[in-house]
Amino acid sequence: MNAATNSPVPLLEARQVSKYFGGLAAVNQVDLAIPAGEVVGLIGPNGSGKTTFFSCLSGLQSIDQGKIYFKGKDITRKRPYQLARMGLARTFQRLRIYRQMTVLENLLISRQWRGETLFSMLNPSHPQTQRRAQELLDFLKLSPLQHEYANTLSGGQRRLLEMGMALMPNPDLLLLDEATSGVNPTLVETIKDHILTLNRQQGKTFLLIEHNMNFIDDLCDRVYVLNQGKTLAEGPPAEIKTNESVIEAYFGT
Ligand SMILES: Nc1ncnc2c1ncn2[C@@H]1O[C@H](COP(=O)(O)OP(=O)(O)OP(=O)(O)O)[C@@H](O)[C@H]1O
Ligand SMILES: [Mg+2]
Repeated sequence: MNAATNSPVPLLEARQVSKYFGGLAAVNQVDLAIPAGEVVGLIGPNGSGKTTFFSCLSGLQSIDQGKIYFKGKDITRKRPYQLARMGLARTFQRLRIYRQMTVLENLLISRQWRGETLFSMLNPSHPQTQRRAQELLDFLKLSPLQHEYANTLSGGQRRLLEMGMALMPNPDLLLLDEATSGVNPTLVETIKDHILTLNRQQGKTFLLIEHNMNFIDDLCDRVYVLNQGKTLAEGPPAEIKTNESVIEAYFGT
């Protein structure tokens, strides 16, 4: 955690955010506040609205009610590439890597990096882009695989690559949607170490959607629990694990 943790303005704040799909309130009046420097978990049973909430926070889905603030600025109607430029990046539960391209090429053309303008589409050849990609290949220990096609990578290596793509613009806040899904136990530890290093040494802030409670336990300062689109509980992992309404939401009575 860095010194900014005590800052009165949260890095990311959602106030009463709602998102409907037809009659379904996938996200229902959710509040969330993440101070800079924290690692925060977002958990909940399948279909509880976690990914939809991420899409609202990252500008991929427009919201029907509420407000979202990043670094004290209203970002409620901002597009994903604008948010990437402001320092907010995300990964996807269903990976969005290009399987017919190499690891390095995936990093160079990272959607979050290039935005949507012609000028930035020319960026892959820019020395700064190349340097950043090499820096991340080193950090994630993917350098030996940089010329391999992404479709030859293991599940865990693909998750690492997507994390690298999100890291390309050097964001302050990373939203990771199920970073450990389909990842073998050794690589889960590697991903955990990367998150810790990025948090402790580079001051990056994280919001993690996870089903792996040990991962949450080891990394998170606080956890939010969603159930049927609503916030069910919020608190330190140890408290959340013994919260009766959380246990009931996961396992039934
Ligand atoms: N594009 C969409 N159109 C209609 N309904 C949707 C859409 N996306 C999600 N939903 C619905 O919204 C609800 C929340 O889905 P969401 O994917 O956000 O849940 P989740 O908590 O991420 O679940 P999981 O743990 O399985 O990934 C579900 O009922 C889902 O079917
Ligand atoms: Mg999901």
